[in-house]
Amino acid sequence: MLNAETIAIVKSTAPILAEHGEALTRHFYKRMFLHNPEVAPFFNPANQTAGKQQRALAGAITAYAANIDNLEVLGGAVELIAQKHASLMIKPEHYPIVGENLLASIREVLGAGATDAVINAWGEAYGFLADILIGREKQIYDENAGKPGGWEGFKSFRVSRKEQESSNITSFYLVAADGAPLPSFKPGQYITVRVNTPDGKSTMRNYSLSDKPGQPHLRISVKRELPPEANTPAGYVSNMLHDMIESGDVIEIAPPCGEFFLDVTERHERPLVLLAAGVGITPIMSILLSALEAFPKREIIFVHAVLNEEVQAFGKASALLSQRHDNLKAYYRYSDAGERTGNATTGLVTAEYLEGLLTGRDADYYFCGPQPFMVSIYHDLLKWGIPASQVHFEFFGPRQELERAA
Ligand code: HEM
Repeated sequence: MLNAETIAIVKSTAPILAEHGEALTRHFYKRMFLHNPEVAPFFNPANQTAGKQQRALAGAITAYAANIDNLEVLGGAVELIAQKHASLMIKPEHYPIVGENLLASIREVLGAGATDAVINAWGEAYGFLADILIGREKQIYDENAGKPGGWEGFKSFRVSRKEQESSNITSFYLVAADGAPLPSFKPGQYITVRVNTPDGKSTMRNYSLSDKPGQPHLRISVKRELPPEANTPAGYVSNMLHDMIESGDVIEIAPPCGEFFLDVTERHERPLVLLAAGVGITPIMSILLSALEAFPKREIIFVHAVLNEEVQAFGKASALLSQRHDNLKAYYRYSDAGERTGNATTGLVTAEYLEGLLTGRDADYYFCGPQPFMVSIYHDLLKWGIPASQVHFEFFGPRQELERAA
């Protein structure tokens, strides 16, 4: 445990770090990539360019400092970070690198305020949090390696089928190149794809698994990422997968991870509400397929919000499921005004729209999509007083970005 003096020092510097948090971590990343370029390939350059990763770490550090005497409030955050780290193969030996660069950056930002006592207290506090993460990450690595069909690190998988799902989303069906069986996973989890880059290094991305567990393949459905802003590059990995990876090719993947999933062992009577926007359909599709199998009688409401039919993935598949399963109602919401087919309506997924579909507000909610969609749903559920245990979401990117907008 941390002693009272360390806790007091860390808490007293928390407001200064909160004020300079982003500058601190921006400086930290620059410094770390200069002194320890070996860790750069772990990071998604798109999140770096847009400043998202800097804000994520700044947010984590300041939240940690503010709650250092009450770490239970960070419980969910620890699991989210540990799962993300484990998906990217962050190992104990990487922690001193981050720790050293972080302390040096704190020293530079605090200037004269960075006394030895302050730096030592932060060193201890960092070590304490690092040990919690390292411990949880070891458990995840061991679980993933120990389960039937499991493995540790990156393993070669062959693309057994490549299928276009919409104008910008393509599915890749993956089987182990060595013919080994596939591991179980929880619907909602993601895998990591690692590819080589032209500079002779490698880069990694997480992709949600879009089919249910227990299939003879792992399926990812990848959106071609165009540059979101003028100074942000197009998605290197998604474009490479779309343009260069064909059926029969081999790619490297790391085992399924993630703390957003449907627990099919939980038996609830209340309805299950699955809300997806855009490519957020990928984990939701896995959850939908698993829920239909696990809960044949439970009321399931599925909504997919998209720009228009052209970019809508799994439209036919979800419509077919709703024909086959009486307990499923599927709805489509297009934000582009224009021609409609089927039961799609025009507009956004607002509280009023949702209210019109539900028999009551008491339900388990799972949602995934772009930031404005997530923020609006999250606020609506909060306003409705839905307990946190019934609200589950996945955000593609550092979660701090979502909380910042909320
Ligand atoms: C106590 C130490 C650490 C804390 C508090 C921490 C915190 C975080 C947080 C909050 C996220 C964002 C999670 C999300 O919302 O998706 C994250 C992601 C990440 N962390 Fe850490 N981290 C720590 C140590 C490390 C270490 C040692 C490494 C290894 C170099 C590392 C590499 C990464 C990477 C690569 C990501 C994903 C970044 C991306 O999306 O590009 N972290 N970490």
